[in-house]
Amino acid sequence: MNRAHTATLDVDWVRGHFPALDSDWALMDNAGGAATLAAVADRTAEYLRRWPVQLGASYGPSAAAGERQAEARAALAGLFSLGGGAALPPEQVAMGASTTSLLSRLARSLQPTLAPGDEIIVSDADHEANIGPWLRLQQQGLVIRWWRVRPDTMRLHAEDLDHLLTERTRLVCCTHASNLLGSVVDLGPVVARARAVGARCCIDGVAYAPHRALTLAEWGVDWYAFSLYKVFGPHCALLGCSAEGAALLANLNHEWMTAPSPATRLEPGAWPYELAWGAAAVPAYLDALAAQHGRPAFEVISAHEHALVGRVLEWLATRPEVRIIGAAEAGPERLPTVSFVSSRRAPEAIVHRVDEARIGIRHGHFYAPRLVEALGLERNTGVVRISLAHYNTPAEIERLLAALEAAL
Ligand SMILES: Cc1ncc(COP(=O)(O)O)c(C=O)c1O
Repeated sequence: MNRAHTATLDVDWVRGHFPALDSDWALMDNAGGAATLAAVADRTAEYLRRWPVQLGASYGPSAAAGERQAEARAALAGLFSLGGGAALPPEQVAMGASTTSLLSRLARSLQPTLAPGDEIIVSDADHEANIGPWLRLQQQGLVIRWWRVRPDTMRLHAEDLDHLLTERTRLVCCTHASNLLGSVVDLGPVVARARAVGARCCIDGVAYAPHRALTLAEWGVDWYAFSLYKVFGPHCALLGCSAEGAALLANLNHEWMTAPSPATRLEPGAWPYELAWGAAAVPAYLDALAAQHGRPAFEVISAHEHALVGRVLEWLATRPEVRIIGAAEAGPERLPTVSFVSSRRAPEAIVHRVDEARIGIRHGHFYAPRLVEALGLERNTGVVRISLAHYNTPAEIERLLAALEAAL
């Protein structure tokens, strides 16, 4: 049935695309890793069966494989402008094993453009993937300045950058959404401030990309990374680069591979071909979802997620022993990732009780230990995190709340 122009997400239609959901487990650790589309698995296998050859030769199968790769890269580049704005040229997208790996490569590639005494701003609300690679540049004399989360609001405030930006600032690195707080950082004021001193922006979009459409050109950021395995794809990641950002990159590839594009410079030895072909099922799925509902995919997805997270937050608010770590109310800037601690039980104990109900959630610092400490929490204990995706159902949420009732 085509449900064109219906207001709500057809969750049965959605779930039919994810074989791993056909189980009695409810998966709510989606910010850790999301279920994979059947089409991703099928296309990955198809590539391995049909085009197991190296690219670049004149014989037919090699040429055919090259065409498949160009098609995949173009389709994946489309993810960076799904919400509008100019399309990103495919060669301005690099693929890697993970966001951590891509941002490490980016830092290495930018190293020659940075001089001792130049400053880089990093945030303590970030996952370590967008902190560690920049901290390592201190060995070359780079100066790190910390943009700190405010413990009272549990947010990064763009105006706090005003005390940190100087004429030596080269780069502002921050997350687009916290993988622990579920809050979105408004990039507009961040980019405007960075630009005003001639600095560039490197944004970690990992926690944002499964929930909202990307508009890279409109945001005006230079580098934007996210992990495809959290957006229903295979275990790999993408880095989109603006034209100016791309032009700054030093080559990490073989010395004779001189094409001046991220696709060459940041992909030493190439990208994983079969995963790229498989991952191209992600934009196709989002297109199909939009066609099915007669509305942009992430408009339908975010409305559904908003209802789910609203119910979780509302329920948690009734529990006196619970402290929500992040915004306590659902809203447009609130992703369906909810962290909390309880005054009665440790996060680990709560999660183990919930495991027994065959519901997958998780506890810890989620590779954002600096954020956990900045909020006055124990790094090793961390928080309980419930992270939802659009394929979660209201019935699963009720199961979760019943399990939490017994676990808290
Ligand atoms: C916000 C955020 N950034 C970066 C990463 C790192 O991604 P990857 O595992 O692809 O390196 C994660 C992983 O959980 C994340 O949640």
